[in-house]
Amino acid sequence: MCGIVGYVGGKNAQDFLISGLKRLEYRGYDSAGIITMDEEGKDTLIKAKGKISELEERLAKNKRDDKAGIGHTRWATHGEPSEANAHPHQAGDIFLVHNGIIENYKELKAQLKNAEFKSETDSEVLAKLIESFYHDGRYPLTNAVVQALKLVKGTYGIAVISRKNPEEIVVARLGSPLVIGIGHDETLVASDASALVGHTKRAIYLNDGEVATITRNSVEIKTLNAEPVSAKVEEIETNLSAIQKNGYEHFLLKEIMEQPESLIETLRGRVNLHEGTVKLGGPGLSETELRKIKHLIIVGCGTAYNAGVLAGYYIEQFTPEITIETVIASEYRYRQAYIPEDSVALIVSQSGETADTLACLREIKKKGIKTIGIVNTIGSTIAREVDGGTYVHVGPEISVASTKAFTSQVIAMVMFGLTIAQAKGVKKTVLQPYVKEIAKLPEEVRNVLELVHEDVKKIANKYKDYDHAIYLGRDTAYPTAIEGALKLKEISYVDANAYAFGELKHGPLALIDDRFFEIALIPKGELYEKAVSNVQEVLARNGKVIAVTNDDKFDLSVADVIRIQTSLEILTPLLMNLVSQLFAYYMTVAKGNNVDQPRNLAKSVTVE
Ligand code: F6R
Repeated sequence: MCGIVGYVGGKNAQDFLISGLKRLEYRGYDSAGIITMDEEGKDTLIKAKGKISELEERLAKNKRDDKAGIGHTRWATHGEPSEANAHPHQAGDIFLVHNGIIENYKELKAQLKNAEFKSETDSEVLAKLIESFYHDGRYPLTNAVVQALKLVKGTYGIAVISRKNPEEIVVARLGSPLVIGIGHDETLVASDASALVGHTKRAIYLNDGEVATITRNSVEIKTLNAEPVSAKVEEIETNLSAIQKNGYEHFLLKEIMEQPESLIETLRGRVNLHEGTVKLGGPGLSETELRKIKHLIIVGCGTAYNAGVLAGYYIEQFTPEITIETVIASEYRYRQAYIPEDSVALIVSQSGETADTLACLREIKKKGIKTIGIVNTIGSTIAREVDGGTYVHVGPEISVASTKAFTSQVIAMVMFGLTIAQAKGVKKTVLQPYVKEIAKLPEEVRNVLELVHEDVKKIANKYKDYDHAIYLGRDTAYPTAIEGALKLKEISYVDANAYAFGELKHGPLALIDDRFFEIALIPKGELYEKAVSNVQEVLARNGKVIAVTNDDKFDLSVADVIRIQTSLEILTPLLMNLVSQLFAYYMTVAKGNNVDQPRNLAKSVTVE
């Protein structure tokens, strides 16, 4: 949510800033801006409402060879998307870009009696506050930043530059990520390591409460209390091809289609098919600790939450001795929930930066409960704060809608459940079918993606003028239906909701009319006949049903059928979710919406 870049070095700063902002555009895309400076501090400030391409157009008329600068792409919190509200914000000689929220900005603004404000943002208040301690450059910028931040309540990742010393950038973080890239004769800053890929592989991830003073050849880090911090330089593992479209029209389609490979990465070294076991190194729990687990709390937001619900359905099938509760992070963080002893919490997050999930993690840790991360982004805040964890290793997910992460999050959690079950001595005959299906999943995903693709495209086009949809499922197909509905609503803007089949008669059946179509997920299995009866109830009310099934014999006269060929049984709902992903994608293309950057949303929700 919002993206920050910064550059000081020997090359053209505008070039890095604009390319970095393009990489971060998925984090916010309603306005953007950059400020660069030459050696004398002569500045060029360019802002534009809308996408980075708008900024780029303006930049083309203002080409400069400045060697330092900072930039920002915004997802509005305080004040509408506009040029005035776009960052960088100026206060005298200093310029600031900010991610996060300054909660006490009104009080701070009231204290800044002589300041004039040009925007409605909380960020400009912070810029003016820093300036008030800067005394026209008589006080070092780093000290002014520290003084100001000590008064701030809220979250921030900031980069600040001054006309008085354009060779230096000051950055700081609390609850909003910042990475410093160490190059040859250049130092780079970004709120997400993907902006640094191709420029350097060496990075320092700033911790909460740290402030860094950066020049082209030095990085000095201190805490807000002026204690020096010895920086750990880590390697950025992402390569360029992982953050490019590689011939696909949209990142979303690329990310859907690369699930066979991303799943292989999730499973690498963790599944022993011969023994019928799984092994996860990351959680770091001993056999005794695993055996003692009686209660599992799974925490996430949005798609990560949905993955947790589905994984919970699976885990309880083979670990009879534990209770599982999947919770929405933004709710759970404020609940007075009793957490029994011998609980473990799974903290699920693709970005590893989601503010509500992070807050939950901290609350749960305070209660002395072990936390295990199911995270994708290496080095992210959640990954660093959990007691142990399992990276899902799906590579960067750039499209705002989460797809490949969902599939791998479910599998990583199921593997964690299997690890508990193994330690508790659950019979191999119970666990082996799960292990076998997990091992087969990448290949099965590849087949389904190939086989259903054209059908789904055709059917999505047929329904492109609809604005209402209902997803239906039972058992493990129910959380899958919830995820399908979320995907459809977030990118195609179709008002889509999911219901457990059994709930239809308790209310939602009243909705069925011409305005709606229904996507019914009907996997073979124990509840198949019941789901078929529920579909009949919808058909009896003239519902337009798209049935997704792996049963060859399915013969109800529904409007459309999408058939899945698979040798899987247990994990079939995950294959059905591929259909939902493709359906949402093609519906969105047909409606002409922005696929990768849906309106009002942004990737990585670092504000509450
Ligand atoms: C939906 C989506 C969001 C995220 C949610 C959590 O497609 O992407 O619902 O799943 O914001 O994000 P992470 O997983 O980064 O914590």
